[in-house]
Parts: sequence; C-alpha cells; structure tokens
Amino acid sequence: MNNKIGPLNNTLDRCVAVIGLGYAGLPLAAVIANSGRSVIGIDVDKKRCGKINNGINPIPEEEGLDSLVRAYGGKTLVASTTYQDAKKCDFFIVIVPLFVDENNQPDFSMLENAFRNIGKVLKKGDCVVLETTVPPGTTETFVKDWLEEESKLHVGEFYLAYSPERIMTGVSVSRLKEFPKVVGGVDQHSGKVAFDVYKQFIGNLSLVSTARVAEFIKVIEGCYRFTNIALANELFKIAEELDLDFYEARQHANHQYCDIHLPSTGVGGHCIPVYPWFLIKEMEKRKKPDFTIMLQSSHGVNDGMIDYWIQRIIVYCKEVKKPLPHVKICIKGISFRKGVKSVHKSRNLALARLLKEKGLNVYVYDELFTRDEIEQMNLSFSTPDMVDVVFDPFTLELMSQESR
Ligand SMILES: NC(=O)c1ccc[n+]([C@@H]2O[C@H](COP(=O)([O-])OP(=O)(O)OC[C@H]3O[C@@H](n4cnc5c(N)ncnc54)[C@H](O)[C@@H]3O)[C@@H](O)[C@H]2O)c1
Repeated sequence: MNNKIGPLNNTLDRCVAVIGLGYAGLPLAAVIANSGRSVIGIDVDKKRCGKINNGINPIPEEEGLDSLVRAYGGKTLVASTTYQDAKKCDFFIVIVPLFVDENNQPDFSMLENAFRNIGKVLKKGDCVVLETTVPPGTTETFVKDWLEEESKLHVGEFYLAYSPERIMTGVSVSRLKEFPKVVGGVDQHSGKVAFDVYKQFIGNLSLVSTARVAEFIKVIEGCYRFTNIALANELFKIAEELDLDFYEARQHANHQYCDIHLPSTGVGGHCIPVYPWFLIKEMEKRKKPDFTIMLQSSHGVNDGMIDYWIQRIIVYCKEVKKPLPHVKICIKGISFRKGVKSVHKSRNLALARLLKEKGLNVYVYDELFTRDEIEQMNLSFSTPDMVDVVFDPFTLELMSQESR
C-alpha cells in the first residue's frame, strides 16, 4: 500500500467533481463552490446542466440554493454531461441514485455507470468518495472493482472512501453546513485523505474507522426512522380505536429517552422506505431472515396505512348527505413529503389513485403542482374549496364543507 499523499497535499487547490446534480448533488456542489473551490458537476441531464450554467436553479424549492447557483453557475460551478471535462479534477464525489427493483433488490446500474466513467479519467493520487446510500460493503467491493478495472490503477495509487449524504430535501444547504457528517475509507489512508478535503467545506465532520461503518451509519439511521414511523402509525390507530388524542399523548410521552415520530399515510420517497430493504435482502442472502423481523413488519404497518385512510375517508364521506359516488373528495397533497416536488413512491399519490379505482369522485390539489401536471398523472384537479370532503395527508385532517 502506498502511504504517500503526493499531489493531494494541497487540498485547498483541489478541483472537485460532483457526479449527479440532483436534489442531493446540486446543493453539495453549490456549497463546495461557495467555499472557494472550483467544481465540475457531471450530470446526464443536458437540460439541467444548461440551466445551472446559466445561473438558473433547477430546484427552486431548495432554500438558499437560488443565490448560490446564480453566483457560481457557469463560473466556478460548471455543469457538463461529459466525464472528460472532469479530467482536471482530483477529488470526485458521486451522488447518483440507487433504486431497488420490483423484488426490492438494489439496482446498481447508475452507480456502475458513474464509477466506470470516472475510472476512465482517474489519475494516480486522485480521491473518489461515494455519498449515495448503499448496502454496507458496496464501496470496498463493487465500487473498488469498477474503478480498478477501468483505470488500471489500484487502491493505494488512488484513494477511495464513503461519506453518506445526510441532507434533507428543502433544507439541504443549511444541513450541509451544520448537520454531523461522517467519512470512512476503504483503508486508513483513504479515510484521512477524504476527511482532510471534506473538512474544508463541511462544518461538523467525523472520521470513522472504515467505509463499511460509514455505510452502515446511514442505513441504520434510515431504519430507525422507518420503524419509528411504523410505531407511530400503529400507536395512532390504537389511540383512535380507544378514542384518545394521540397527539396529546405523544406530546407528553416524548422526552429525552422517548422520541415517537409522527403518524402518516405511509413512507414515500427514494430514501427511507428503501434502506431497510438493503439489510432485509442481505440477511435473506445469508439465510438469516429472522434478523430483520422488525424491519419487515414495519413495511407491513407503513404500507397498510393507505387502506386504513381509505376506510376512514369512506366513513367520513358517508356523513355527507349525498350518494357516496357523488361526494367530491379532494386529496390536498400528492408529493411524498410536504414541500418536496416529487411523487417518487408517494403514498399520497397512491392513496388518490386507489380512491379513484374504487369508483370514488376524487380530486387532487397540491400547491407544488399545476393543474396540467396533475392531469398528466391521470387525476382530476380541484381546489379544496370546491369539494365536499378534504383530506390533508400531511396533517391527517379530514374536513367537510360544513366543518371548514
Ligand atoms: N434527496 C435527498 O433528500 C437525499 C437525502 C439523503 C441521501 N440522498 C442520496 O442521494 C442519492 C441521490 O438522490 P437525489 O435526490 O439527488 O436524486 P435525483 O434523482 O434528484 O438526482 C440524481 C441525479 O443524478 C443524475 N444521474 C443519474 N445517473 C447518472 C450518471 N451515471 N452520471 C451522472 N449523473 C447521473 C440524474 O440525471 C439526476 O440529476 C439517493 O439515492 C440517496 O442515496 C438523497
């Protein structure tokens, strides 16, 4: 193993490449540019790159991002679809999505494409860091192999680490400045090299022992939130059945050692509902499915919330003095989370669709989506004031025309 840092000594001069300029990658690229470094952003989406280079923020709902993209886009933050343009960079950060397929198995194709392309421009002394949330062990196995195969270099000649993205869409810029971030290398030296560079633009950073630990940290954080939401959903249903105010009880139950999350229509987006599968599938492979009983049942509880809410909506509609199919229902929000313009795995969109399939007279309203965008999803648009019953999936409030 080569223990010399070599050209990496001058971390302040480093040109950083950020691969993937989406919800996670663009705020990161902008924060790095704001720290005084030049950044080459690589994204396969030509339109997105064009906007960034013209100083236009493609994610307007992301707080604080507009001014950064306006200040650096096309100047010290240059977006390109061509990996060759990142050749002059010596620090590469990858943040492209990892989805699970229809059998909940991770699909590494986007990551493989990104790393093989980096491998083609990788030089001795460069450092590569993965930020996408992945099953523990990914960086030291697949990622290392893809890079070594394409570059004909070996770890030791280049450095390889993992540092999970821990932002939250909508408040990513401030989270990058304040939220604890960890980094771990596939070997000690890689961890240290990556740590020294990140330290230049991340305020709250810890070096952990290995890339595998850093990967596990992010996955278990997601599992905690996923199972906690399942617990909240289960307790909410029990409280309703017992005619108790769940929110009052939760407020007084929560303290230093108790942090019950909020109930919901289930869990959407491409993060929290996906990460438990990484562990469930790995334990299945190792013939230890009984190690993930809680994660599996949390999926059951969270996925079952749509049926629960459909029943509640139907019971509520029966109070309206109209035949059920004529009662106009508005689902006030279809994004997977309030304030994020994305319907990826959205339980609220699924709820609206299921109500429609059941023959109910359902409309959708979401302040982030235009009438056209909603109609393109094959749903009818209406403002909440034009219907008989409104369900707000973010507050779980059911309201009738009379109660508003
Ligand atoms: N969005 C979040 O709140 C969040 C939070 C924590 C972690 N993450 C992590 O970030 C990852 C990415 O999430 P996101 O929300 O930014 O996704 P996104 O879909 O918003 O953005 C991904 C971007 O990568 C680009 N891309 C895909 N394949 C590429 C390739 N081979 N080369 C270059 N660009 C490519 C896409 O065009 C897109 O612009 C997630 O899988 C997750 O692990 C996201």
